[in-house]
Amino acid sequence: MTDRSFGGPWTQEKLQILSLYLDRYTTALKNQPFRLYYVDAFAGEGTWSPGSAYASDYDDFRELQKGSPRIALETKDRSFDKLIFIEKDPHRCESLEILRSEFPSRDIEIVNEDAKIALPTFCDNLGISDRAVVFLDPFATEVSWHMVEALARTQKVDCWILFPLSAIARMMPRKNEPSSELADRLDLIFGGREHWQDLYTASSQLSLFEEERRQERVGDSNQIAHQYRKRLESVFAQVAPSGRVLRNAKNSPIFQLVFAASNPKGAPIAVRIAGHIIDNW
Ligand SMILES: C[S@@+](CC[C@H](N)C(=O)[O-])C[C@H]1O[C@@H](n2cnc3c(N)ncnc32)[C@H](O)[C@@H]1O
Repeated sequence: MTDRSFGGPWTQEKLQILSLYLDRYTTALKNQPFRLYYVDAFAGEGTWSPGSAYASDYDDFRELQKGSPRIALETKDRSFDKLIFIEKDPHRCESLEILRSEFPSRDIEIVNEDAKIALPTFCDNLGISDRAVVFLDPFATEVSWHMVEALARTQKVDCWILFPLSAIARMMPRKNEPSSELADRLDLIFGGREHWQDLYTASSQLSLFEEERRQERVGDSNQIAHQYRKRLESVFAQVAPSGRVLRNAKNSPIFQLVFAASNPKGAPIAVRIAGHIIDNW
């Protein structure tokens, strides 16, 4: 059987932040006349266990843990009116069906589709009194700018994005510009070359065999994340001032969890709640 386990201690940290936010968000909107959606665009299977690469380091948490779909189903004070789980792996969708059968009275839709198709469709169908929290929790660099922009345009969605810091830093070599294949992928993530290319500058030295100065990356992974956050600020009503850096067992940053709110009226309170959790939890 294929090993579909993933994650490590940072997965727990990320899901704890999500859980706290979902509880506070649903409580804050408890008496408002909105229909509340939760959308898990990279839903997984409802549970997770540490990836085989990490399991031996973390004997104390080998057992199955609650994944984001189950966490969203179990908000304490007020439930989401509808939950949409988007997952492109059909085997994981089968596990989500089992999760759904545990909650027969809840409105749960499982969409076995690529998020790049399913998410813009969801955005297009949002009604005037709908509000949503969308969780973008990919393994690596699957979140395209096209998806993010569609969410921002709704003016109805708050979203948590797991920005894959280490994967993106690997796509941006320090001593040379990215290959054209990597540059095309970075364009999809940042929504255009002009939004990441100023992390590169001409090298101050010319080697013996070079006619032109090489381009070198000037920014570290903090600056890459900063650049992405600036990009979010250009389309969302408000973005939480800092993201939570998630580190692996060797203390290297691997992801940054960022929060952005699209509704101009609701954004200040949403960002205050999310920012407080990011900074203090
Ligand atoms: C990190 S896991 C999600 C874990 C989940 N949030 C949880 O807490 O249990 C990422 C999931 O995204 C799915 N996935 C990857 N690319 C996708 C895409 N383009 N569209 C939809 N799902 C995708 C993978 O199959 C995987 O199940």
